[in-house]
Amino acid sequence: MRNVELKARDPDPARTLERALALGADDRGEYRQRDTYFAGANGRLKLREHETGGSPLWDELIEYSHELIGYSRADSTEARTSSYRRVPLADVAPLHEALEAAYGTLVTVSKRRHLLMWDGVRIHLDDVDGLGTFLELEAVAEPDSDLAGEHDKVARLREELGVEDADLIATSYADLLMEASGGATGQSVPGTSIIGPDAATGPGDESAQELLRAADEVMHTAHVKYSHFPVGAALRGVDGQVYVGSNVENASYPQGQCAETSALGALVAAGQTRITEVAVTAAHMEFCAPCGGCRQRLAEFAAPDAPVHLGRPGGRRMATTVGDLLPLAFDFEPRA
Ligand code: THU
Repeated sequence: MRNVELKARDPDPARTLERALALGADDRGEYRQRDTYFAGANGRLKLREHETGGSPLWDELIEYSHELIGYSRADSTEARTSSYRRVPLADVAPLHEALEAAYGTLVTVSKRRHLLMWDGVRIHLDDVDGLGTFLELEAVAEPDSDLAGEHDKVARLREELGVEDADLIATSYADLLMEASGGATGQSVPGTSIIGPDAATGPGDESAQELLRAADEVMHTAHVKYSHFPVGAALRGVDGQVYVGSNVENASYPQGQCAETSALGALVAAGQTRITEVAVTAAHMEFCAPCGGCRQRLAEFAAPDAPVHLGRPGGRRMATTVGDLLPLAFDFEPRA
């Protein structure tokens, strides 16, 4: 299925509702939705669960009361086309559990949605928990459509509803929530920033991408029979070389070792003692922060301003430093 859609912040939903009704839009009521985005699928696979909330729409929603939606869409403020697949689900809980176990949750988006229909275009007045109020226009396309008609309708509605350029949004609610919260951890962390895949053009970026690729590659060697949580780490030595390692677990669980520690072993075995840059990649988590013990181990070999990249090659990444991860690392001499 394909859509032409537009998303914008809506500073005045009451006014938008009034304008939409004045245009003859059909008011289809309100309901609550919860979308769970899973990590391994790069944020483009979501499980949608509806709550009735006594909506008059409920009879119609029953068919799609819960569904798995896989989709692809370019990030753009222009009205854009998205392709998607919807799989209706009768019994959502077991699938939720299985996907959560396999991939981990990237982010959950909960919202109250007021739905109106105008000439085949869905008008969503969304109140998203933690983000605020938004307007979405979605023209669902017929399979053989060249999309020109859908684009025209969305453009006309946009004009009639008075959507300002400055309010247009290029990304998804999931992306906005992750940006607002500092990533998949759900916490806003001082000393970290999120860098989008498109911003990957800065001077140090090539080096960051090389390390993330190396971390991602070695991650596939991880021995993770117990946690099923593969991690890869790559370190750049002062010699410019890249040293890699993955996590190695053990039937006696406390004997396991982290990817960062394995990589430090490789560095030391090669006769190196200083690192200038670090990257960590995990299969089931967008930004996998080194554990407390590994922060101390990294601090042994790196200056506090050594960059640390958390993420996947070509994707969003969290940028931080060894010093921001562990401000008061233990040492026998006070650190500068
Ligand atoms: N793990 C790492 O290898 N690095 C980190 O930064 C965090 C956790 C490993 C340890 C264990 O094998 C698995 O992830 C689950 O804790």
